[in-house]
Amino acid sequence: MNGIKIRGMGHAVPSHAASNVDIAQVVDTSDEWILTRTGIRERRYCTEETSVQLCVEAAEKAIAVSGISPDEIGVCIVATLSPDRMIPATACMVQKEIGLEEDTLCYDLSAACSGFLFALHTTECLLNACPKKYGLVIGAEVLSRLLDWTDRGTCILFGDGAGAAVVECGEGWPSIGAISGSRGDVEALYVEGPGSEERSYIRMDGKKVFRFAVETIPKCMDQVLEKTGRTLDEIDFFVFHQANVRIIDHAVRKYHIPKEKYYMNIDRYGNTSAASIPLVLSELQEQGKVHSGSRVMLIGFGGGLTWGGAVIEFA
Ligand code: ACO
Repeated sequence: MNGIKIRGMGHAVPSHAASNVDIAQVVDTSDEWILTRTGIRERRYCTEETSVQLCVEAAEKAIAVSGISPDEIGVCIVATLSPDRMIPATACMVQKEIGLEEDTLCYDLSAACSGFLFALHTTECLLNACPKKYGLVIGAEVLSRLLDWTDRGTCILFGDGAGAAVVECGEGWPSIGAISGSRGDVEALYVEGPGSEERSYIRMDGKKVFRFAVETIPKCMDQVLEKTGRTLDEIDFFVFHQANVRIIDHAVRKYHIPKEKYYMNIDRYGNTSAASIPLVLSELQEQGKVHSGSRVMLIGFGGGLTWGGAVIEFA
């Protein structure tokens, strides 16, 4: 199988920022509690913006950075758990706005915080069977719509945003070696759908998800290294799903990853689920921390309980 590389990244976040102090005016919490338990200082909430608008802004930036034309894109996948509409897929709404051609395969993928990784994995497979060599992979969330303001254990954590990647599939390029898994745990983290009498709020057993993440990340990293045949030293940057600073710190300590090889923006955006990994990748590219030839390990985990990992290079 031919592998994919990242040609260009883009991201978009809503303009309204809510600090921990703002949140503490609504629920019984404090800046100190949130910061020490999670690493979050503030998060963005859509007040005017829609999910599609964030996706389009992120996608247009990624397409501009990559220097390709939208008609060269054969696959467009949006990973999200919080779309504007159930139908059509967000990807079809993005298609309309940015003018993707009719033969572009456009659909949404739901895998919570592992969504962007599952979408990258899927895109690599699909591009191997597609006459066009570029894919548009977006992670986008408006989680502020799903917050229960009477549950201080969850409402403090989540934020809104979108990140987009233009990926290219190249003859003879190494596969991203994606690994993925799902545990069929339907209680640890869920949001009820329209058929339920309960409102659609994020419900989470935080301790259980925390333990799951800390146990799963090392397994996931080891499997990705084995599958790609890489060593830790060959990885230029490590990008973890931004769920909690303490979870990332645990992995960083275990693998002795130096400070200059990982990056966190959870302090500014909170947990943006499927958007969190592409938001990090986009900021890394914008700041020149990654560039052509950089090799990045991506690790995601979340509702399902699901997990995914891959090693992807920048073209
Ligand atoms: N402010 C103040 N106190 C609080 C708050 C708050 N916001 N939330 C909970 N507390 C209190 C609790 O009531 C409890 O008090 P008690 O001891 O008097 O009963 C105490 O703090 C401890 O509560 P815990 O829930 O045990 O807190 P914990 O240390 O586990 O931290 C947290 C909670 C931050 C949610 C943590 O469990 C976590 O980060 N879990 C992982 C979440 C995650 O990774 N999600 C990723 C997937 S998301 C996705 O896929 C969409």
